[in-house]
Amino acid sequence: MTTRPVLLAGAPESLLQQLRGALPNAVLKPCKAGLSAEQFRAAGAAAAVVALEPDPETGFRTVRDLALAGVPAIVVGSQKDADLILRAMREGAKEFVLVGDGPGLVRALRALLRGGEGRTAGAVHAVFPSKGGVGATTLAANLAGLLQARGERTCLVDLNLNMGDVLAFLDLPGGFSISDVIANIGRLDRSLLDTTLLRHRSGIHVLAQSHRVEDADRVDPGALSALIGFLREHYGAVVLDGLRSFDDLSVAALDASDNVLLVATQEVPAVRDARRCVQLFQRLGHDRKLALVVNRYQKQLEIDVQVMADTVGEPVRATVANDYPAVIRCVNKGLLLAEEAPKAQVTRDCDAIATLLLGTEPEQQPAAKRSFFQRILPLRASHATE
Ligand SMILES: Nc1ncnc2c1ncn2[C@@H]1O[C@H](COP(=O)(O)OP(=O)(O)OP(=O)(O)O)[C@@H](O)[C@H]1O
Ligand SMILES: [Mg+2]
Repeated sequence: MTTRPVLLAGAPESLLQQLRGALPNAVLKPCKAGLSAEQFRAAGAAAAVVALEPDPETGFRTVRDLALAGVPAIVVGSQKDADLILRAMREGAKEFVLVGDGPGLVRALRALLRGGEGRTAGAVHAVFPSKGGVGATTLAANLAGLLQARGERTCLVDLNLNMGDVLAFLDLPGGFSISDVIANIGRLDRSLLDTTLLRHRSGIHVLAQSHRVEDADRVDPGALSALIGFLREHYGAVVLDGLRSFDDLSVAALDASDNVLLVATQEVPAVRDARRCVQLFQRLGHDRKLALVVNRYQKQLEIDVQVMADTVGEPVRATVANDYPAVIRCVNKGLLLAEEAPKAQVTRDCDAIATLLLGTEPEQQPAAKRSFFQRILPLRASHATE
C-alpha cells in the first residue's frame, strides 16, 4: 500500500479510529474541510475521505478542490439521498458511503489506493454451511485451489478457531496462527507473509488458529475485520471457511465478505436451515452477496433444485456433484480435486464456481471484477432450469 497520506477532511475522531484499525499501514491525516486545491496538492495525498456533515456545502467545495488537486475522494454522508449522491459525484467524488458503513468505507478506500497503483483490492469469499457436514470445507479448500490455479494469489482462512479442520484436510502442520498474524499485523508485509504463512502444494496460503487455541479469544470482531482487510491487500482472493453460526465473529466475517456461498444439500434439515440462514442474511442486509450452492448434488433426488429454490427462497446458483470416492481420496492424501480427479464432474462443478467468483472465463486473465450479481447470472440460467 502507498505511503502517501490519506486525508480525512472534517471527519470525526470515531472515523479516524475505525480506519486506523482496518488500515494499519495507511498514513491517515485528519485535516480541516475547506482547504484550497493548492493546499491539497501540497499535501501529496493518495486519497481523501470527506464528511458531508455538519456542513454539506463546505463538503462539496472540498470535494471539488480535491478533484482539482487530482486527489480521489470518498464522500461520507448520513443519508442515501439521490440528490446528495449525484451532487457529490458531479463535484468529482469517486464514491459515496453511508456514515456507519465502516466495511463499505474501508473497501472503497482500499480500492482507491489500489487503483492508484494500478491494482484492485482482493475479493473475499465466505463459504457458509446451512448446517454441519454439508461440505463447506471441501468446497472452500477446492475453490481456493482453483482460484490459485487461475493466477489469483489465494489465502484460505479457517475461522473455526477451536475445532477447525482445514489443516487436517490439507495435511498441513500447525504454523503461524490467526492470532499471530493479528498480533503482528503492523509489521507484516507481503514477503514476510510469504515466508511465515503455511503453504499447500497447490500454492494456496493457509491461515488457521492451529495449535494456538488458547489465544483464540484474542480474535475479537474488530481484530477479525482488520485481519480480513489486511489479507485483502495482499491476496487476490481470500476464502473463508469455518463460519457457521451468526455469532459476532461470523457476522464480522460476513460484513467483510464480497460474496457468500450458502452451502446446502438435498436433505430436509439442510434445506430448512438454509431457509433460516437466508432470512438472517436478509436481516443483516447481506442477501445480495448470497449465492445458494447445492453440494453432493444428485439429479434423481426428490428434492431437486427447483424444490430447493422454492423452499429456501433463493435461486440455486450452482450444483456440485456427489462424488464421495474422489473427495475422500483427496482428504486421505491431503490433495485437492484438481490434482486428484481433474476430469471428474465434482471438480468441473467447483471450477464453474471459481469462474463465477472471478467473473472470467478460464482462458481470460482475471480482469475488472464485476458485481457478484452480474457474474452469477449465467449460472442461474444453466442450473436453475434443470
Ligand atoms: N461433493 C461431495 N461429494 C461427496 N462427498 C462430499 C462432497 N463434499 C463433501 N463431501 C463429504 O462430506 C463430508 C463433510 O464434508 P466437509 O467436512 O467438507 O463438510 P463441512 O460442512 O465442512 O463439515 P463441518 O460441519 O464438520 O465443518 C465429508 O465426508 C466429505 O468427504
Ligand atoms: Mg468444515
